Amino acid sequence: LQKFIREDCSGIDMKVVLYMAITINGLIAKENDDVSFVSAAEWKNFNRMIRKAGNIIIGRRTYDLMRKSSELPKYKNTKIVVVTHKPKKVSGKNIVFTDDSPNEIIKMLRNDGFKIALVAGGGKLNSSFMKAGVVDELYLDLEPTILGKGIKLFADANFEKKLKLVSVKHFSKNEVQLHYKVAK
Ligand SMILES: NC(=O)c1ccc[n+]([C@@H]2O[C@H](COP(=O)([O-])OP(=O)(O)OC[C@H]3O[C@@H](n4cnc5c(N)ncnc54)[C@H](OP(=O)(O)O)[C@@H]3O)[C@@H](O)[C@H]2O)c1
Repeated sequence: LQKFIREDCSGIDMKVVLYMAITINGLIAKENDDVSFVSAAEWKNFNRMIRKAGNIIIGRRTYDLMRKSSELPKYKNTKIVVVTHKPKKVSGKNIVFTDDSPNEIIKMLRNDGFKIALVAGGGKLNSSFMKAGVVDELYLDLEPTILGKGIKLFADANFEKKLKLVSVKHFSKNEVQLHYKVAK
């Protein structure tokens, strides 16, 4: 019966969305992890998407930074999937530490009944999900900032994806949101 349920759930429609705030030159943080260029309006957008999805998939470094900045309690109703090669930490009520592949993680969230799986950084995590070909859509909130150095939206890896522009939303005087679909 369990096998039947799992197979049955995998038929449920779910989309994988990558959501990030970026500088106009495609960086997501300074070298020292400073993200102060991200505006309050952008955080509001992002948190709205988290509430809609009910989950976030993040890399271990992003998780460590969220924990240090005491952001985690804000997400107690969100399933947090932390991807790491060394998932020693015991998973909590809403936090899962895993070294599963992007495909397996997406399958797990689909089986949990989520309609959206939210890929939320940082650069290494984004790259591995993009390379695995599981991302369906991207939302990029473009901040009016240029950083000479920093962490890339996608860490260096060997892949190429073509996108289709779905919409451009002007969400504050100086900020736009680009919404793309990944061409399959
Ligand atoms: N602007 C934004 O919207 C935004 C959003 C999120 C994060 N950020 C910023 O991004 C920066 C962090 O990015 P980052 O690239 O340095 O680190 P990251 O992607 O957050 O974390 C990297 C770590 O995640 C684990 N990991 C990632 N992909 C994996 C995979 N497929 N399989 C197994 N483990 C995997 C590895 O952990 P182990 O080393 O434990 O194996 C890896 O060292 C921070 O500065 C953060 O503030 C910005």
